[in-house]
Amino acid sequence: MTAADKQFPPPPILTHPSASPPILVTQGAEGRLYKTTHLLPTLPCALKYRPPKPYRHPALDARLTRARISAEAKVLERCWREGVPVPAVHAMDAAAGWLAMEWIEGVPVRVAINAWLGDAEGEAAPTNEKQEEDLVDLMRRIGEAVGKLHKTGVVHGDLTTSNMMLRPRGSGTPANGEPEAATQDGRAKALEGEVVLIDFGLATQSMSDEDRAVDLYVLERAFASTHPRAERLFGAILDQYKTTFKKAPSVLAKLEDVRMRGRKRSMLG
Ligand SMILES: Nc1ncnc2c1ncn2[C@@H]1O[C@H](COP(=O)(O)OP(=O)(O)O)[C@@H](O)[C@H]1O
Ligand SMILES: [Mg+2]
Repeated sequence: MTAADKQFPPPPILTHPSASPPILVTQGAEGRLYKTTHLLPTLPCALKYRPPKPYRHPALDARLTRARISAEAKVLERCWREGVPVPAVHAMDAAAGWLAMEWIEGVPVRVAINAWLGDAEGEAAPTNEKQEEDLVDLMRRIGEAVGKLHKTGVVHGDLTTSNMMLRPRGSGTPANGEPEAATQDGRAKALEGEVVLIDFGLATQSMSDEDRAVDLYVLERAFASTHPRAERLFGAILDQYKTTFKKAPSVLAKLEDVRMRGRKRSMLG
């Protein structure tokens, strides 16, 4: 236990008698993500906890934490209600700094894509068009998820393939540990599943084309640096975005401006 933990004990929810012992999944700058259970020992949940920041003024810190947790919960609830693929909110205590939500099975989209591209390299056989179609299909599911999000009046603020999960269909665990990843069939299956958007810590409610375009631009840049070998397929995301979201054309026009500004800025250094 570190000094910080002693000074600021985690909230009682983490040691609640009905919950399984929490497992720390990630520790980011802003908060920690635990896997635990909620209500039933068989109901896994993701618990996001923002511990107090000792360097901030306590009153300001408490206010910021409360505002951010409730904003994240509010946006998630709105998305959930409107059918955007996001984790359902189970419970929250904004003052205590935590938010409990549905646990999404699967792996981050970043991991799925990189594993798939890595396989292609390992096999030495160039990816043929039919195989590439599996990746393009995943890109379309990403575009659809983002289109639904924007349609509902929410911009994410940090769209990356790390902030999307690929949930296996049927949501169960992958069948009995068969080593299918090596087979062609397994390779195709590696990209199957539903794209679920997560990490709404920076999300805001907005209907502005400019905000939406910046959201897409952030994704485009993140995608190019995380998956350089798949960068040329990015257009499939935008194509599906257009199919899903009626107002996409004006957003995509704005995206041109945002790209231009981005290029000018990088030329100026
Ligand atoms: N609802 C969830 N279900 C399953 N895993 C999750 C869930 N939310 C977050 N995670 C996992 O925890 C990681 C960090 O969560 P995230 O919300 O992205 O916080 P951060 O602000 O630290 O990036 C994610 O990349 C994902 O692997
Ligand atoms: Mg994240």
